[in-house]
Amino acid sequence: MSSHNMIEIRGLDSHYKGRQVLFNIGFAIPHKKVTVIMGRSGCGKTTLLRHLIGLKPSESGRVFVEGQDMGSFDEKGMANYRRRIGVLFQSGALFNSLTVSQNIAVPLKVHTRLSDETIRIMSLIKLHLVGLADFLDYMPSQLSGGMRKRAGLARALAMDPEILFVDEPSSGLDPITAAGLDDLILELRETLGMTIIVVTHELESAVKIADQMVVMDRGNLLAVGTPDEIRSSQDETVLRFLRREAEEQQVNTESYLSRLLGRQYKAGENSTRRQGGVR
Ligand SMILES: Nc1ncnc2c1ncn2[C@@H]1O[C@H](COP(=O)(O)OP(=O)(O)OP(=O)(O)O)[C@@H](O)[C@H]1O
Ligand SMILES: [Mg+2]
Repeated sequence: MSSHNMIEIRGLDSHYKGRQVLFNIGFAIPHKKVTVIMGRSGCGKTTLLRHLIGLKPSESGRVFVEGQDMGSFDEKGMANYRRRIGVLFQSGALFNSLTVSQNIAVPLKVHTRLSDETIRIMSLIKLHLVGLADFLDYMPSQLSGGMRKRAGLARALAMDPEILFVDEPSSGLDPITAAGLDDLILELRETLGMTIIVVTHELESAVKIADQMVVMDRGNLLAVGTPDEIRSSQDETVLRFLRREAEEQQVNTESYLSRLLGRQYKAGENSTRRQGGVR
């Protein structure tokens, strides 16, 4: 097994109450890189993350962390792993009855024996990092959507995780705030050397931040590669996915696609498809 991989997934299936939602997923997540998981709503991205953070048990031999089978982790092994990861859930999931700084302090209080003063300083550093240092004493309800996302990110970073999982960092945000989050993610990779896994369905953001892109379709793995490899894929299902995503983003589809796909894209082809009712 390659030592350059932080996590490896092999032949992972997943079910909810007998209904299969992931089918034979296999790919590797390299150390200190940004891996972006993409795919349409309901294709299984969050479910996959739940396996990777140990919230949904996987069969033995399916998920490996630095070569160690996660299925064989005992309680202590899982607790050790959890201490190495930070997670920003899709919902942001701040505690509404706690202030911003109290929210950030929660993981430090749970996992460490640091003094209150040290915890206060560490929380402040993380809030600085996400640009919220002036909002320490705000309640989550007093923050905008983008600020809540950033506060959630600060909490995910509280323990200085080696691996950061982020589910839909920019959904529901305006483009400028979303771009700011993208930059922050790149900064975390550059300055702290974090291994980062981001789930998104913003194609533009994915192309910007990804070292590696993973494209899923209805519980299956469609493609894995660099953004360039994905964009130059000849695979019809991948191309269809890129077209659909571009259409959904409601920008000027024609110019957007020619920018993303370069020469492979022919304007006539896309409009025919749209008239043909392809989703
Ligand atoms: N707790 C659950 N119980 C039962 N079924 C679930 C549960 N969570 C997700 N599913 C099902 O699993 C499938 C994948 O859902 P998942 O949340 O992983 O999709 P997603 O790719 O994250 O979608 P989105 O982009 O909308 O967040 C869906 O069919 C969904 O109905
Ligand atoms: Mg999801």
